[in-house]
Amino acid sequence: MTDTSEANVDTSRRTWIAITCGAGAVGGVAVAVPFVSTFAPSERARAAGAPVQVDISAIKPGEKLTVEWRGKPVWIIRRTPEQVAALPKNDDQLADPKSLRKPDELTPEYARNEGRSRKPEFFVGVGICTHLGCSPSDKFTPGAQPSLPDDWKGGFLCPCHGSTFDMAGRVFKNKPAPDNLEVPPHMYLSDSMLLIGEDKKA
Ligand code: FES
Repeated sequence: MTDTSEANVDTSRRTWIAITCGAGAVGGVAVAVPFVSTFAPSERARAAGAPVQVDISAIKPGEKLTVEWRGKPVWIIRRTPEQVAALPKNDDQLADPKSLRKPDELTPEYARNEGRSRKPEFFVGVGICTHLGCSPSDKFTPGAQPSLPDDWKGGFLCPCHGSTFDMAGRVFKNKPAPDNLEVPPHMYLSDSMLLIGEDKKA
């Protein structure tokens, strides 16, 4: 992020939008709620950075919903009990398992925990690689597979230069990406309603 030019930012946006559209074209895999209908604010307000309200009630365990906030893709992942249980097993392979790096920028205080989340079940993270801004791909299925280690427990693989992240967006050691994925400010308005972009009651 420190050396990312404006041009790169624009490119990364196109990349994630293209990937999102591609997923829709093959049947909306892992997108439980129609993309556009999740946005509560107007288009103009959203572009200005207004908080985005999202109904998360239709997201099933193991599924991911992507919404846009401040021009960035924000992932909302409902982790399965198995995915939550696997998180501590990654710690010794991670570059920053406790989310101590750039805490003000990357991890709000309420997310400085094993799951980097307010609720163990849900992970909310910005889907932009901290290396050069590509959008990592879902690799939720555990086990050996191309470009991933044999003991893979599920997470994300950045297709650009091979950085890997666990199901809490924590980056693995010795990868090009220097940091964990950003956790945006967020809060739950109810069990089914999430607000992204704000984390304090007025
Ligand atoms: S942009 Fe993700 S590894 Fe380079």
